[in-house]
Amino acid sequence: MRRRIIAGNWKMNMTKAQAKEFMGEFLPLCANAKCETVLCVPFTDIHRVYKLALGSNVKVGAQNVAWADKGAFTGEISAEMLKEVGAEYVIIGHSERRAYFGETDETVNMRLKQALKCGLKPIFCVGETLEQREGGLTEQVLKAQIEKGLDGVAEDVIIAYEPVWAIGTGKTATPEMANETIGFIRSVATKLVGEVSILYGGSMNAANAQNLLDMSEIDGGLIGGASLKPSDFSVIVNCD
Ligand code: 13P
Repeated sequence: MRRRIIAGNWKMNMTKAQAKEFMGEFLPLCANAKCETVLCVPFTDIHRVYKLALGSNVKVGAQNVAWADKGAFTGEISAEMLKEVGAEYVIIGHSERRAYFGETDETVNMRLKQALKCGLKPIFCVGETLEQREGGLTEQVLKAQIEKGLDGVAEDVIIAYEPVWAIGTGKTATPEMANETIGFIRSVATKLVGEVSILYGGSMNAANAQNLLDMSEIDGGLIGGASLKPSDFSVIVNCD
């Protein structure tokens, strides 16, 4: 089902004390938000943020999940472990994991299937680089990421379109460009998994969020930098 989802991705930010301070400021500001509000936080913050968010409309997510149930996988965290500390969502295949940590379409697919098997809600990220966009390869790259990532998946997933060139750069895709590309992603993904919610991510902020969210294909946002500031993030979750 298509629905408005606003998810923050804290990436590798926020100590315990900072997370507590953030929640103290943010929760009153988002009390009337009508969207599904999610904070995808570092593993070490999940339980604290979950406890602070109890009784509010804020849900908690992780930023990765292991593809196996348990065992000799040094440095990985299982779905069961994530759920135990309060995670309900998980980001999978973020471009930073693909670029810096060797994540491939195949490992993304394995993690995605594991998340679904264990009852976590995956936020599956796709996006092209600047070189690929300028080379006219955007649709080809996205189609391959979606088809390989969703191979063998028939359930509801949330997709996030994050053009790599817009992440953390201050360069947002124009609403029209994001809308057109998300329309393409929807045409590919719907054939595989049916109706999906598709978020835009990449320098989305308090000033540009409403214009992006007004577009017909954009169901929500995945927000990095602006999700670290309660006042900015609350503007986004309170958008119409
Ligand atoms: P920024 O909002 O900081 O550009 O990050 C986007 C992102 O990568 C969210 O996952």
